[in-house]
Amino acid sequence: RLVNAKNMVDAAYKNHFAIGHFNINNLEWAKAILTVAQKTNTPVILATSEGAIKYMGGVNVVVGMVNGLLEDMNITVPVALHLDHGQSIEMAKKCILAGYSSVMFDGSHLPWKENYEQTKELVKFAKDHEVSVEAEIGTIGGEEDGVVGNGELGDPQQAKEMVDLGIDFLAAGIGNIHGIYPSNWESLSFETLNKIQDKTHFPMVLHGGSGIPQEQIEKAILMGISKLNINTELQLAFQQATRNYIMEGKDEDRKAKGYDPRKLLRPGTEALERETEHLITWFGSKGKA
Ligand code: G3H
Ligand code: ZN
Repeated sequence: RLVNAKNMVDAAYKNHFAIGHFNINNLEWAKAILTVAQKTNTPVILATSEGAIKYMGGVNVVVGMVNGLLEDMNITVPVALHLDHGQSIEMAKKCILAGYSSVMFDGSHLPWKENYEQTKELVKFAKDHEVSVEAEIGTIGGEEDGVVGNGELGDPQQAKEMVDLGIDFLAAGIGNIHGIYPSNWESLSFETLNKIQDKTHFPMVLHGGSGIPQEQIEKAILMGISKLNINTELQLAFQQATRNYIMEGKDEDRKAKGYDPRKLLRPGTEALERETEHLITWFGSKGKA
């Protein structure tokens, strides 16, 4: 059974590690991440952007697939199903009613007052359903599934006001970027992270977790990052392994039925498993179920 993400993220905050939030696209993604979580006794968050929900067919497909996997794979570690970058509170409410256990309302494209008011309304609704809520201040640079940001740094006063609304974890622009980091990118803004922590002492979320050097990840976790969002890193791992399979001509092997999608997607899926295990080891959440 899905659990909301509050307890796992709170425990991570207290004990200086971070829960992996992994964006899923399909059955292979969900299965690979759950396989690793169960094998390593690790709490985990499966997340879908609005784009991924659309790709998979809709919220009921996602909820049905994930719940089915939890049951048929005998998953006993804590798993949350989370809406990533919900663009409207209507979408967040729709996910909650369909069975999501956690939602993000990303009102960072709105004027601050509206972001605040809409987050407030969603918190009330989510609390009634025991669903955890993530809010965002500032913006994340780059682009993810049509969500674009200019990388504006989060404001500590706004952070405090969001926290006081009763949200469960907070995403803030701290120099992080979605997708592949440009080669001239240097560092997260630890100064911003520090100022926000000083004011809130509250679990925070690092978006754009792919491609940040390990030392910066570790430092950010020690400074209050308790949920780490990963999308691109797994996509790249899947792409590379699939590319190798095809470059080696294995898909052309008719005798071995290398064209069978279950075989064609296998190396990519195994790469997802390896990469997930590698990341939860970094984040310190491995074995913390
Ligand atoms: O919301 C999801 C994350 O922020 C993913 O970012 O693709 O850079 O890992 P990423
Ligand atoms: Zn994000």
